[in-house]
Amino acid sequence: MKTVLPLLLVATVCFGDLATDPILYPYGPSEGDKVTPKKDDGATSAIPISTVFIFFGKKHNSLYVNNNGVISFGVAVSSYTPNAFPLADGSPFVAPYWGDVNNEIAGTVYYRESKDPNLLERISNDMRKYYPNFNYRATWAFVATWDKVAYYGSRSKKTNTFQAVLTTDGKLAFIFLNYGIITWTTGKASGGDPLTGLGGIPAQAGFNSGDKTNYFNIPGSRTPDIVNIQKTSNVNTPGRWLFEVDKFRVAGGCVYEANFVKYNETFWKDPTCETKCRCNMDGDVECEEEWCSGNLLCQPSTWHYSCRIGIGQCF
Ligand SMILES: *[C@@H]1O[C@H](CO)[C@@H](O)[C@H](O)[C@H]1NC(C)=O
Repeated sequence: MKTVLPLLLVATVCFGDLATDPILYPYGPSEGDKVTPKKDDGATSAIPISTVFIFFGKKHNSLYVNNNGVISFGVAVSSYTPNAFPLADGSPFVAPYWGDVNNEIAGTVYYRESKDPNLLERISNDMRKYYPNFNYRATWAFVATWDKVAYYGSRSKKTNTFQAVLTTDGKLAFIFLNYGIITWTTGKASGGDPLTGLGGIPAQAGFNSGDKTNYFNIPGSRTPDIVNIQKTSNVNTPGRWLFEVDKFRVAGGCVYEANFVKYNETFWKDPTCETKCRCNMDGDVECEEEWCSGNLLCQPSTWHYSCRIGIGQCF
């Protein structure tokens, strides 16, 4: 038994990976994907798309797939250290995982425009799960996949796999961000450790609309926690984030100053905890005057404040 058991476990894990990996849509040579140049900080030239894609109210007829984990509109992106959103230069872009990819070391960035009925059916079915009231039927999709890509200056074997899928029915537009195995956050030129791909200024995931007010960070962006993005979701499907982007809405909650707040979640927005806010089921944040109750103390918590038991305090 002692020798058989480990083998069985390994086999189960392997089959499990294949059979239970519904997060990434099919990609690669078998799907007819093209590849971006294998070049540090490389990008495609403008890729014309056959459908208008509406992103934050603006119509786009082309896009760029950038090796550093970004799909951009209007201009290619070669920056390797993620700047905080909103970006000063106002470029609209989608960042499944903006960091210093170097696929000269390892990995391939695939992309394709698709009207394949099987893919569109699968996207439409997934959409119905997450937005049962929309009756969304995809007519177009664009799939970009960063497959087992390494980081700049890597002295390890670590790679990341992630995907961005744009879809529209001609009216509404959505983006799926799908995460496979994520093991590194930072290239060497962004302060990362070449041996681990961690530290420095970690990768950022989210959206920059191009204006000053509409942008969004997936929780953990530009912090070490982003390495766990595969375990997070706004649609109860670990490794998947889904956004409506024709006008910006996030499934499962609200956006408050670029941060995600789940439905019914509450937080205080000020350092003295005088204004309590809540994400309502319409996707709006409502705030009202409310102080910490009892002997709870106002304390900073990630991007907001919360009322908690103080150190050395007890009930
Ligand atoms: C939020 O609260 C409302 C009313 O209290 C409830 O009907 C709803 O199911 C809650 N939603 C979630 C996602 O918890």
